[in-house]
Amino acid sequence: MAMTPSISSETLLSYAKQFGLPLFVYDAQTISTQIANLKNAFNVPLFEIRYACKALNTIAILRHIYQQGCGIDTVSMGEIQIALQAGIPPDKISFTPSGVLLEEYAYAIEHGVHVHVDQLHVLEWMNEKYPGTEITLRFNPGVIAGGHLKLQVGAEDSKFGIHINQVEKIKALTDRLSLKIVGVHMHLGSDIGKSDSFDEAYAYVLKVAMQWKQTLKQIDLGGGFKIPYHPDDHSIDIESFGHKISARFKSFCEEIGRDITMIIEPGKYLVSQAGYLLMEVSGTRDIQQTGLAYVASGFNHFLRPMNYDAYHHILNLSNPHGEISPYDVVGYLCETDTFAHERPISKIRKGDVLCLMNAGAYGFTMSSNYNTRPRPAEVLVQENGEGVLIKRAETIDDILRTDLGYQSPL
Ligand SMILES: Cc1ncc(COP(=O)(O)O)c(C=O)c1O
Repeated sequence: MAMTPSISSETLLSYAKQFGLPLFVYDAQTISTQIANLKNAFNVPLFEIRYACKALNTIAILRHIYQQGCGIDTVSMGEIQIALQAGIPPDKISFTPSGVLLEEYAYAIEHGVHVHVDQLHVLEWMNEKYPGTEITLRFNPGVIAGGHLKLQVGAEDSKFGIHINQVEKIKALTDRLSLKIVGVHMHLGSDIGKSDSFDEAYAYVLKVAMQWKQTLKQIDLGGGFKIPYHPDDHSIDIESFGHKISARFKSFCEEIGRDITMIIEPGKYLVSQAGYLLMEVSGTRDIQQTGLAYVASGFNHFLRPMNYDAYHHILNLSNPHGEISPYDVVGYLCETDTFAHERPISKIRKGDVLCLMNAGAYGFTMSSNYNTRPRPAEVLVQENGEGVLIKRAETIDDILRTDLGYQSPL
């Protein structure tokens, strides 16, 4: 199946001209459609989507997602700050950190943000410092799933969540603490296309949740819903999956005897397909059968192909009808930074603009200043079709500003 951007090539090229390259472009309409798909699929009386903003957290994006009726899940003090800055009310923000210092939990609680806890010492500390606080416990379902080893966080030996062997201990502990356990949480991993793994993990977590049924208000089932990266790839069948899970959840609520809120925490499902990374070709080499196209970008702007061996579809926007031949598309870093290997793309010439698809999730937020390269600007195409700059490109001055030796003479 052909993969075509939701924004026309002409429009993308006009943004390249107007805002410069490299450039991230996001389509608000695609995000809205994904949210609507989830709302249609999950039909339980009390339902909330908490967008995992680690995927992409530019303020205009958070506002757009909040306006579609979603809350925000955060993992750091910085993400909480961004969400608050975006105008998201604290009661629509949750905090699901891993291995952070207690000061980060304190920041969340003092700002009215609901916290998810998976470590015993945090519970003890919280009980002393913030007695009576309502919290959610994060459990490790002990199920292996996810599109890449590094994206699997639900295995039994994972660092995330309360271990299955510790459930009784935690129950005994929470029985003697004043903290109120109002929620149970799990997150299995990312890029999960088959519903069986979710089924197994959800069944486990719903069973565990029964331990706190008196005080229970919400179950957070995490994110991880797969979207297609490759033209032959598939998305999770969200409709049938959602219906199945909703039916299971309804029986769980019946068993408890009241409605409990079902929360899901998707990241990439909402924003991955909405994003495009536009990059300029700095040169080509054609001494081998596979051509080599250098782009003025690298894993400093987009890490997924290098970190997860992820396939990201690439189009030549400025020469769409050229002869198709295989290319290695590589970046400008002093490291191996291959975006695509032996990829059929229409003839690439110096100065062409390439479009890397599925760049919305874990693109900008995983970017860095490696090789002292500024991060690109970001443009959001609003639902009225107007493209607006939502973050300017960094400058080298921005990067150097924290270096105290900068601008002071030797
Ligand atoms: C706790 C938690 N929730 C939700 C997500 C979102 O995952 P995805 O982007 O695959 O939906 C993550 C991703 O790492 C996560 O750690």
